[in-house]
Amino acid sequence: MDLPIIYGPGLKPNSPEAVESVKYETGAAEADARSVAGRHEEPWMNVLEKYEPGSPPAVDFALRHPVFGARIQGKIIDFGAGTCWVTSRLSSLPAVKEVVALDLSEVFFRTAGVRMIRHWKGDPSKIRFAVASFNQVPVEDGYFDCGFFVASLHHSTAPILSLLEARRVLKPGGLLVLVEIAISIRQIDAARTQALLETRTTNDTEMRYTKGEWKYMLEHARFKNIEFHVVDALTRNPAVLLVRKLLRKFDLERVIFTNLVVITAQT
Ligand SMILES: C[S@@+](CC[C@H](N)C(=O)[O-])C[C@H]1O[C@@H](n2cnc3c(N)ncnc32)[C@H](O)[C@@H]1O
Repeated sequence: MDLPIIYGPGLKPNSPEAVESVKYETGAAEADARSVAGRHEEPWMNVLEKYEPGSPPAVDFALRHPVFGARIQGKIIDFGAGTCWVTSRLSSLPAVKEVVALDLSEVFFRTAGVRMIRHWKGDPSKIRFAVASFNQVPVEDGYFDCGFFVASLHHSTAPILSLLEARRVLKPGGLLVLVEIAISIRQIDAARTQALLETRTTNDTEMRYTKGEWKYMLEHARFKNIEFHVVDALTRNPAVLLVRKLLRKFDLERVIFTNLVVITAQT
C-alpha cells in the first residue's frame, strides 16, 4: 500500500516532538508493542486494548451521535493519528471523502499505519499521510470539514497553538472532535505527578487537564459551542454509574471522578 505523503516543515532538532519521533522512526515503539500480551496478531491492537480501551467506544459514540454525528463527513484530519485506526475507521464511512492522517513519523505510517489500515478495513483511496507536527500543518486554510484529536492533544507541548492551527485548517463552521481524559479536581495533582514521571521515562510529552482547563484552552483558541459528552463505556459498576450520573446533573462529577470525554467544538 503506497499512500500519498505530504510533509510539514520538519521538526526543530532536540524539540520534544523530535525526541518523541525517534522511537517511531527507529522501530523501538514497534518492538515495545510486540512485547504487549494480547489476543491479536497485530501488536498495535493489543496496545490499543490494553492502554486506550475507551477510545474505540468514544469514537463510535461520536459517529453515532444524533446531533453532531452527521457532521463527521467530507474532508477530515486525524491529528496525532499514530497507528491510523481512527483514520481507517473514518475512511470507511460513505459520507467521508478524504482523511489526512497527521503524525510525526513517516516510518511509523509506512509500517504500523499501513498494517492497521488493513486490519480496520480502511479505504486507502481516501487516505493521505501528513508527516508534520500538529502545530505546523502543511495544508491550506479552511480545507477540512472536521478534525479529530484522539488521545493526542494532551501530548502537545503547546495545546493552545495546536488548537489555533486546527482552527486555521478547518472551514468556518467546521467541527472539532477531541477524545480525551478530563481529570477530576480531586485527582489532578497526583495525575500531574504521574505525567511528569512518564514524560521523563518515556520521552512522550504527557500532560493532564481538568474539564475546566480543556474548556479554557478551546475558548482561548476561539472555538465556539464547546460541549462535553461523558462516555461511560469504562464504568462497569452500576452503583458507581448511578452516582456519577446524579453528580453529573449538577456538574459536580468533575470534582470527584475522572472522565473519558468526547469534546466537540465549532470554528
Ligand atoms: C497516544 S497516541 C494516540 C494515537 C492515535 N490517535 C490513537 O488514538 O491511537 C498520541 C500520538 O500523538 C502524536 N503526537 C505527539 N505530539 C505530536 C505533534 N506535535 N504533532 C503530531 N503528532 C503528535 C504521537 O506521535 C502519537 O502518535
